[in-house]
Parts: sequence; C-alpha cells; structure tokens
Amino acid sequence: MSPAGEPGAQVQADLDRLLPLLDGALTVPFQEGAAARLGEAMRYSLEAGGKRVRPVLCILAAEAVGGTAAQALPGALALEYIHTYSLIHDDLPAMDDDDLRRGRPTNHKVFGEGHAILAGDALLTEAFGVLAGADLDPNRRAEALILLAEGAGWRGMAGGQALDLEGEQVAAYDLDHLRLIHRMKTGALLQSALEIGAVLGGADPGQRAALRACGAALGLAFQIQDDILDATATEVQLGKRTGKDAGKGKITYPSLLGLDGARRALAEATETALCHLATLPNRPSLEAWARYLAQRAK
Ligand code: IPE
Ligand code: IPE
Ligand code: MG
Ligand code: MG
Ligand code: MG
Repeated sequence: MSPAGEPGAQVQADLDRLLPLLDGALTVPFQEGAAARLGEAMRYSLEAGGKRVRPVLCILAAEAVGGTAAQALPGALALEYIHTYSLIHDDLPAMDDDDLRRGRPTNHKVFGEGHAILAGDALLTEAFGVLAGADLDPNRRAEALILLAEGAGWRGMAGGQALDLEGEQVAAYDLDHLRLIHRMKTGALLQSALEIGAVLGGADPGQRAALRACGAALGLAFQIQDDILDATATEVQLGKRTGKDAGKGKITYPSLLGLDGARRALAEATETALCHLATLPNRPSLEAWARYLAQRAK
C-alpha cells in the first residue's frame, strides 16, 4: 500500500510513462517567435509543474477503449493549454487575486496583468490550433474540437467561473447551485477530457457515453476535493495559498456540509464515476485514477 494521499503503483506507472511525453511536447510550439515575452509567460505557467490530470485522463480514456496515447496526444495538449489559461486568469486580481500557483508567483505577479491576460488568451487559442492542425481522422478531430469548446466555453468552464464570481456577491445559495458551479467551472473540462480521449481513441457510442458520464462525476469530485484541500492542506503541499475560500467567505462543499459531509459527497461522486467505468474493456488504470484523485494530497 502507498502512503495516504500518494499515487499507488498503477497511477505512478501511468505518470512515469505519460509525463515525459506531455512535458516534452507542451512548450515546443512557444519557443521562438516575435512575441518572446508572451511566449516566456506561457511557458512559465506550463512548466511550473501542474499535475497534468486532464491530459493524462484524456490519454487513459483513449487507451481504455483500445486507442493509443499518440492518437489522444493533440487533445491532451489542448486540454492542458486551456486548463493552464484558466488558472492564469483565475489568479488575476479581478478574479481570485492570488499570488502563488504551482509553487511559483502567479503569472501576473511576474509578467504583469496585461501579459497574463494575453498569455491566457494565447493558450486558449493555441489549444484549438494544436487540435485542428493534428494529423487525425477528420471526423474524430471535428468531434474533439466541439467537445473542447463545450468544456471550456459558456456552458462549461468560462460559464462556471462567471457563476462563481457572481456567487461572491450573494450571502447564501444552496447545494444545488454550488454543485452546478462546480460541474461547470471544473467538471465540464474534465468531462471533455475523458470524452475527447474516447472520441480520439475510437470509442463506440456506448463507451463514449460511459466515459462522458464518468468524467462529469470525476470532475465534480475533483472540485469537492479542491475545496477540502483548501480547508485542510498546507501551501507547501499544494503550491498555492490555502484557507482562501474561508477567508473570502466563499460558499464551498465544506462550508455547506462540513468536512465530513464534503468527504461523503466526494465519495459518492467517486463511486458514480467508478460505476460508469464498469463496462469498459480496459479500465484498471482509470479506476485507479478515480480512487487516487479522491484522496490526493495535492
Ligand atoms: C486546480 O486544478 C483548479 C481546479 C480546477 C480545481 P489542478 O489541481 O488540476 O491544478 P494543477 O494543474 O495541478 O496546477
Ligand atoms: C478554479 O477553482 C476553477 C477554474 C476553472 C480555474 P478555484 O478558484 O477553487 O481553483 P484554485 O483553488 O484557485 O486552484
Ligand atoms: Mg476561482
Ligand atoms: Mg482560485
Ligand atoms: Mg480552490
């Protein structure tokens, strides 16, 4: 058994195999160009050591239906670009106003707000570029692009971030509304990660639906654990400030349900995610990841 919060053998094996592939490819397109300072700002956040959960899950979803990492890689890169952009913008003074991310000063603290906004804009745009330009089956590529837009856009992450911001002006709202915010701001992109992997890996319609549903539940679980860690973990552990949600009086799973209630909701969402995997041909890896993400320590 691995220590609590640490990846077990299966998750570690996936990380050992996939992180070099991802880290080798992520910053390649942004090395040389006229806007050198902007490229530096983009690489700064990409290289800062995120957990790479979304690209890894995208590749594992493809493999779970018999596809390959190479087929899923353009989708995986696109997801990490979008996620990194969302973090750069989430940390801006107009949003969460944070000064520490991935163990480093936040992007706007180093490059200024203008360049941080533009680094986010460019990463968002490059995400669609890397996927649109990839040598993939044209139908699968088009489906994946639609899913990327769905996860990142008005019905997904950006919409959820807007609801999250608007929620800061409201004294109280209920669990149903908080669940909606969590599903949109974080769940939608994780749902897209699994479904893009499914599509690029050649899933049949039933497998694709199962991975989509699994991703939605995993995404909700992921944000519940993010709320729990904000209340219980250290800055050194997470590489970002903690206790921020309570400090801002933010409505979270622990604030509405208490820590035990939040942990029960996390366990429920994780069980739902696991149930949706039950029919897949090649599922041990995704199952191990679902369990690991529910008890991750960072
Ligand atoms: C943090 O995401 C923000 C959320 C959507 C909860 P991660 O916990 O995946 O952050 P990194 O990528 O490891 O920095
Ligand atoms: C962020 O949620 C969700 C995003 C889409 C970026 P949080 O604001 O809770 O994420 P952290 O805790 O700053 O990473
Ligand atoms: Mg936020
Ligand atoms: Mg934040
Ligand atoms: Mg948080």
